[in-house]
Amino acid sequence: MIKMIYNTFFQRSLTSVRDLTRQDFELLFDVTDKLIQHNSNYNICSGKTLGCIFFEPSTRTRLSFESAMSYIGGNTLATSNILSSTQKGESLADTIKIISLYSDVLVLRHPLDGSSKFASEISTKPIINAGSGTEEHPTQTIQDLYTINKETKKIDGLKIAIVGDLKYGRTVYSLLYGLSSYDVTVYLISPEALRIRSDSIYDIKKKLQLTESTELNDYIHDLDVIYVTRIQKERFQDKEEYFKVRGSYVIDNSVIKKLKKNSIILHPLPRLDEIPNNIDTSKHAKYFKQAEYGKYTRAALLGLILTKNGFEHK
Ligand code: NCD
Repeated sequence: MIKMIYNTFFQRSLTSVRDLTRQDFELLFDVTDKLIQHNSNYNICSGKTLGCIFFEPSTRTRLSFESAMSYIGGNTLATSNILSSTQKGESLADTIKIISLYSDVLVLRHPLDGSSKFASEISTKPIINAGSGTEEHPTQTIQDLYTINKETKKIDGLKIAIVGDLKYGRTVYSLLYGLSSYDVTVYLISPEALRIRSDSIYDIKKKLQLTESTELNDYIHDLDVIYVTRIQKERFQDKEEYFKVRGSYVIDNSVIKKLKKNSIILHPLPRLDEIPNNIDTSKHAKYFKQAEYGKYTRAALLGLILTKNGFEHK
């Protein structure tokens, strides 16, 4: 049975990981565990509707949200910038207002930083940020932290490297905000041109032990988690710059050989050339597991937002 903690998610938007406490994560992890065990009837959102609005491409996030909603008995409406009246010039504000008339909770992915916060201010229903520009991707962090906790049995005390595009990768920022609730050592490994945006993490710098470097090799032997990210080609103003940094870090067999026995490799996906397919069968590779957990962490979040005590006694 889920120990009853006050449900801080009920009817609340989730636009930034900065708004989540360690207790919030623990509640989500607890509910997710129960959902994975599936030893109860979780049709707690029957008759409720999720409205998905995706103005950028998505495979995992959108479909795991749909799959999560159906797992807890609800249904989904979905639109995109291509399919909606955005094509005719309708504003984001009007799109949000309309879809919130037909839904109980909305999920928004949009290329602009601040888009989710803006949507949450005009929507009459809770908004979940499914990716806002280069700013944040909170539900990815919930699944990332859940995966780390599940696969390494803890988060405190870990040595975690975040590798790749730290400038434009929004999952990186949300993950750092989430990790700042834990006692971890973080190595930020990137090409010089893709270093972390210092101003976006100024307030959590003191909470985390951070080291910035271009050299993964200097730390690889000692890491518990290697969180690999894709170079975000679509966010480069100058495509020449992209070709200069493409392929900077490739987690191939020569890297795998240097890893600690129980270390894990994560990636929010999609991957390009940063993890070759032959690594998928390595015992360190947990990125598909991570993608699978995304369905259950999102079901936990949706259920908590839509029902005050739906998971109680389950
Ligand atoms: C990520 C995103 O959209 O930020 N994808 C995802 O949701 N798993 C990562 C990426 O696109 O590189």
